[in-house]
Parts: sequence; structure tokens; C-alpha cells
Amino acid sequence: MDTEYVGDDLVKTLFTHDEIQAKVEELARRIEKDYEGEELLIVGVLRGAVMIMADLARALNRHVEMDWMAVSSYGSGTKSSGVVRILKDLDTDVTGKHVLVVDEIIDSGLTLTWLTSNLNSRGPASIEIVTLLRKPEAVSMPVDVKYVGWDIPDEFVVGYGLDFNEKYRNLRDISTLAPHIYS
Ligand code: PRP
Repeated sequence: MDTEYVGDDLVKTLFTHDEIQAKVEELARRIEKDYEGEELLIVGVLRGAVMIMADLARALNRHVEMDWMAVSSYGSGTKSSGVVRILKDLDTDVTGKHVLVVDEIIDSGLTLTWLTSNLNSRGPASIEIVTLLRKPEAVSMPVDVKYVGWDIPDEFVVGYGLDFNEKYRNLRDISTLAPHIYS
């Protein structure tokens, strides 16, 4: 969906479709270089990461295995509590594999801190994270995020997989949501 169809719900466009595609290509080149000669499993965190998984996988000019996890964070309000439940586990055995977890945003960092620790206990050859967006709170998270598209301010963003009440995920651009929608 183009932003014009929900223009009144949005404040401003942070990243256009073209800017996102260029950033994903840039991340793909770094990833290709870093994993040269290695087998690579990319793991998308449902549901928000569907768009970046699809684009990143197609931008990688090499073979790559793809799998998915769905997790649910418990907590009050909009913030994650760090307590995570697996709703859908990997179909792949990650033992001895190079794993790259793909997400579209890291907010508090709690979900991916838990997830990488969980995957680490399964004996992968390595585990790294790529995220398109990172919010300020996650900059100081204990788990290292190797690939970050953009660091963004603490604003409510939607589009390119990011939702509010399950809407706006299918916007091509990433935009800030107008306060009258979420308050
Ligand atoms: C989002 C996002 C990350 C997580 C980040 O998923 O995709 O996985 O929140 O938050 P954190 O850094 O504070 O833990 P969400 O729980 O909104 O589910 P969704 O992908 O299905 O929208």
C-alpha cells in the first residue's frame, strides 16, 4: 500500500520504499562478504520480519537457507517484559550452523536477547542479528547486533512489516504514526 491511502494516519515518512531497498542491498553485501564460503541459515522473527526476510533473501547473491520463528512476549502495556514464549519453533536443527536472526525492529532488545540466548543453547556455529531499525533503548542491550540498517528515535513507526493493531504492515514506506491513532 502507498502512504497516500492512509496519509491522515501518518505524520511523516522516515524511509521510502527505494531507501529501504538500497539499505537492504547494502546489508546484503556486508553479509555476503562476512559469510563467504560458509553455509548460512537466516531466521525471520514472525510476523514483522516477513518483508525484510523476503527482500534480504532476494538481495543475497548466494545460497541461503530460510526458516522462521514466532514468539510472544508477555508484559504490560506496549513494552516487552523479556519473558518470551515460543509459538512456532524452527523446523531446522541449528547445530553447527551459522545463524543470522532477521528482524525489522529492535525496541527494548528483550525479545532478541532472549531469542539469541535460546538459539545459542542449541549449539550453532555462530549466531548474529540483522535488524532494519533499532530504537535508542536497544543500543545498550547486552546482546551485540552486528547489522543495523538505521538507528531511529523513540517514535511509533509503521510500515514495511511494522504494525499498529495489525494494520499498516503492508505500507511500502516506513512512517511515523499520528498520535490521534494510538492515543
Ligand atoms: C516486534 C519486533 C521484534 C520485537 C522487538 O515484534 O518484530 O521482534 O517487537 O521488541 P523488543 O526489542 O522490545 O523486544 P512484535 O512483538 O510487535 O510482533 P510482530 O512482529 O508480530 O508485530
